[in-house]
Amino acid sequence: GRVLSVASECVPLVKTGGLADVVGALPGALAGQGWQMRVMIPAYPGVVAQLDAPRVVWEVADLFGGPGRVLLGQCGALEVMVLEAPHLFARGGGPYSEGGRDFSDNAERFAALSWAAAQIAQAGDAEGWRAQVLHAHDWQAGLAPAYLRYAGAAVKTVMTVHNIAFQGHVVADRLAALRLPLSEFHPGGFEYWGNVSTLKAGLMTADAITTVSPRYAEELMRPEFGLGLEGVIAARAGVLHGILNGIDAEVWSPETDPEITPYSGRSLKGKADNRRALLEEFGLAEAPGPLVILVSRLTHQKGIDLIAPAIEPLLEAGGGLCVLGSGDTWAEAAMLGLAARYRGRVGVRIGYDEALSHRMFAGGDAVLVPSRFEPCGLTQLYGLRYGTLPVVAATGGLADTVIGATPATLAAAAATGVVFHPVDALGLRQALRRLGQLYADGKGWAAMQRRAMKADLGWQASAARYAAVYESLCD
Ligand code: ADP
Ligand code: GLC
Repeated sequence: GRVLSVASECVPLVKTGGLADVVGALPGALAGQGWQMRVMIPAYPGVVAQLDAPRVVWEVADLFGGPGRVLLGQCGALEVMVLEAPHLFARGGGPYSEGGRDFSDNAERFAALSWAAAQIAQAGDAEGWRAQVLHAHDWQAGLAPAYLRYAGAAVKTVMTVHNIAFQGHVVADRLAALRLPLSEFHPGGFEYWGNVSTLKAGLMTADAITTVSPRYAEELMRPEFGLGLEGVIAARAGVLHGILNGIDAEVWSPETDPEITPYSGRSLKGKADNRRALLEEFGLAEAPGPLVILVSRLTHQKGIDLIAPAIEPLLEAGGGLCVLGSGDTWAEAAMLGLAARYRGRVGVRIGYDEALSHRMFAGGDAVLVPSRFEPCGLTQLYGLRYGTLPVVAATGGLADTVIGATPATLAAAAATGVVFHPVDALGLRQALRRLGQLYADGKGWAAMQRRAMKADLGWQASAARYAAVYESLCD
């Protein structure tokens, strides 16, 4: 079968978070399941230049205020369709914002992406390629299933929620500009407290809904996680699937990672070299306790404010902390403040640095993920793979992928990390104390590392589940 996957980012072309990793990995994973998946993203500056042999396969004179066309090209093994529409996408800044300010026409920009994708899925491109299934990711693509539904198209649709905190709210007076029918402006349609929600539009009209972990699928039906859309999710529970993200084993493997001294579960010796190098790179003193890393967007979701009031037990145990991230001003300041206060024990790099993140996963003893909510999360998975044991909040995909050390899980030789709850400063503080104790037992620690490194984190099982969803819609 053929699927058109529609999203605002895709590795290796453009990335701001885990969404891009997942969108970029799905086509390869699904190929083995008999599904040809093309990815469609906007032509932000620099994207077309990364494609091999791009050719025009779709054109339209008026795409939300200017001409639009779609180029089809290869990027490695990926088949990518990029939407060129200079009035919407040829501008500075990132995919959504410039200088910390969201673009004021984001609704139109991503409505245009969704519109073009719906047209191609339904009527085909210039070469006659069309899709049986359109797979939309997050609010940016939420209108694609809606356009298809309102047009009565036969194309089946899947809506994946990577993060329900972003819902695509648009003031109602832009409804016609977004090519939405007034007849669907009601609570059973895309109306949301007097506004339009593009994510709700997708959730109401898609044939199936997925999210990126089973636990998050359950959490989404509660107000504190559903953030206003819990009723919509609950109403559609019958078509909701929680399918875990995998990781790309080619990119994330301590045996072959070109950034590091290689090591494996059988021989962890190389990991000690990486640890030494990491301490040096961050200017930290030798740490007899656990060296903890954090690679994250620095935002409220990620629990960054919990770290400062919880760090003492880690330092008392002789541990250290290396932080890499960027995000909200207050959170960057909080991390820089820690580094200033605990010079030689805490090191902080503000920014985005893929290569450094690899060196951190290789050199760290533990990776910290204290998120208030986490639909899936990828860094705890990298941590497992690298024997860098996750210390995570008991929420979403974190709870689904890490087995917390307890007397029972240790006795059963099952533990792969530390899981804490409730998600507050005291919870994190106790988790860091437990981490220090676990680390002090060298033999037990090494056993946990080897176990973590054996966990199955690939895409195989999840790709089979996505394929099963597509197949259930198509027969
Ligand atoms: P989210 O998508 O909510 O940010 P995920 O854990 O799903 O969270 O994905 C985050 C991705 O971005 C991971 O691949 C992580 O390694 C990467 N990442 C986050 N911040 C940085 C950074 N400052 N430098 C390098 N990689 C980062
Ligand atoms: C979102 C979520 C994250 C998830 C990623 C990929 O960014 O915040 O938990 O891993 O999407 O699905």
